[in-house]
Amino acid sequence: MKRIFSGVQPTGNLHLGNYLGAIRNWVRLQDDYDCIFCVVDLHAITAWQEPRELAANTREVAAAMMASGIAPERNIIFVQSQVPAHAELAWIFNCVARLGWLSRMTQFKEKAGKHRENASVGLFSYPNLMAADILLYKATHVPVGDDQKQHLELTRDIAQKFNSDFGVDFFPLVEPLIFGSGTRVMSLRDGTRKMSKSDPSAYSRIEMTDGADDIARKFRKAKTDPHPLPETPAGFAGRPEAANLMGIYAALSDIPIADACARFGGGQFSAFKRDLADLAVSVLAPIQDETRRLMGDEAYVDGVLRDGSRRARALAGPILEEVQAIVGFLPA
Ligand code: TRP
Repeated sequence: MKRIFSGVQPTGNLHLGNYLGAIRNWVRLQDDYDCIFCVVDLHAITAWQEPRELAANTREVAAAMMASGIAPERNIIFVQSQVPAHAELAWIFNCVARLGWLSRMTQFKEKAGKHRENASVGLFSYPNLMAADILLYKATHVPVGDDQKQHLELTRDIAQKFNSDFGVDFFPLVEPLIFGSGTRVMSLRDGTRKMSKSDPSAYSRIEMTDGADDIARKFRKAKTDPHPLPETPAGFAGRPEAANLMGIYAALSDIPIADACARFGGGQFSAFKRDLADLAVSVLAPIQDETRRLMGDEAYVDGVLRDGSRRARALAGPILEEVQAIVGFLPA
């Protein structure tokens, strides 16, 4: 069976972009793949996290994944820091990857910004840890958004260099799984930028914890343009906000964007936005209710995660031992 690995950072509330762009797709993968889903808290601390918030967010992300339909019995859902092999393999990869490779990572450049000297060393070597996440399970496929493609390329480079340095055919070359259109959710304030938890404006995103009133207000205030909605997707040229809102509608109702255009084309934004808000509430409310219910039962969530990490350790342990032997470490 093909094996999927994917990770999500517990750095704040999940938003509609995380749901439509990642988690909802993961739910669909569980039928066809052997899936491992990880809450990557080691990655989260590459930037400062308030300890109490980190713990709460880690639980909440796990609960939201389960509430969205990822079944812990059929998949592995776990927390990265509970499987020490991730950090151990990442160290070995720190010694395989070259400084030059990491210097080219656009996500590092963006996140470090002008204050490169002040970025944590962890932020710089972040992609090595991500490669370790994936290769520790010899995952064959990784569902990711566009922004993570470069990190997957690096994962392939690391696998290849490890194999050739040690003269082995050990790590597979992973393939990205890129999902179709409508999954890249953009900011409600600027249709050219990705919906992001780091955007200072709360109006830029629909958070998974937003109530019906917040959702309606945010869509009502979402940026638009003065033209009626287009009747075909060709009409989105030069209209990123219209494209984004219609894309969200299509994704939430699981119809092609052309069908959404056929339904709303020629109409005004105001009426469309009301329908969009109603639709979003109807899709998100059951997930929110279930997330809240799970968050009320910490012992259950923690138990699921402990079980997940136990199963993850069972898969990762023998692979890490083989790697250690290949590198020339004495058996423990
Ligand atoms: N870097 C990914 C992100 O920010 C999260 C991540 C960490 C990940 N490890 C991974 C994704 C392994 C896929 C596979 O979105």
